[in-house]
Amino acid sequence: MEKRLSVRDIRKLKSTVLDNEPIVSLVCYTAQLARLINDLVDIILVGDSMGMTIYGHENTLSVTTQMMINHGKAVVSSTSRPHIVIDLPFSSYEESPEKAFRTASKIMKFTGAQSVKLEGGEEFAETIHFLSQRGIPVMGHIGLMPQRIQTLGGFITQGKTKEAAEQVIKDAKAIVDAGVFSTVIEAVPEETSKIVTRNSPIPTIGIGAGRTCDGQILVAHDILGLFGDFTPKFVKKYAELDKNISEAVAEYAREVKEKKFPGINNVFKSSK
Ligand code: KIV
Repeated sequence: MEKRLSVRDIRKLKSTVLDNEPIVSLVCYTAQLARLINDLVDIILVGDSMGMTIYGHENTLSVTTQMMINHGKAVVSSTSRPHIVIDLPFSSYEESPEKAFRTASKIMKFTGAQSVKLEGGEEFAETIHFLSQRGIPVMGHIGLMPQRIQTLGGFITQGKTKEAAEQVIKDAKAIVDAGVFSTVIEAVPEETSKIVTRNSPIPTIGIGAGRTCDGQILVAHDILGLFGDFTPKFVKKYAELDKNISEAVAEYAREVKEKKFPGINNVFKSSK
């Protein structure tokens, strides 16, 4: 049987250690898609962006632990090779390290995922340390943290001024010291993520964080053209599936109305 990538394997993919190729990561939430990308990516993140992409919510705040478990289980059971990380959703971990442990252990127990991700910088160092000392590998997430949308006032690029960049760099160091095995850096200038990556002994995974991170991550729905009309600057669309789906359904609807479907090949005949 194929061996799944462990946190140890992911740590070894740090580019500066062995001149490795960048780590390929994708956000994916369903069995159907996970099966298709099993052999193509190193990391699958079952992200709380599912609240927006597949549940149609305005932001990620409404996502629950049960939703993460349901989707996490589907993704784990339909893959064999990629490392699976599952997001801790908003309000499931912030209160205390103990609460974070309860949520993270439940998610890992019921999904079979290898690790969890939480959003936060130096203010979450204690929580990250608590989890990683108790058998829960943690992926960090700094820069733009979508769970802070209400305090930020929007999905706004972070770390643009000197002070803001220094804070991102400080956050990165604090969570590395606390024990994360890799760090997602979201929506920060390339110059800032370059400094973070250079000073980080573990892999950085960028989303809107430029070209020098140790790996890249995007949301599968975004790269496949399955999520509305808005495409953030840092996304590249590799397909236009929205369009394909609309065209296919329009053709089906037309054929039903014109009584072209079902055709002779789509009907059962009774035995004589
Ligand atoms: O939930 C998500 O899709 C994420 C990515 C933005 C990294 O956390």
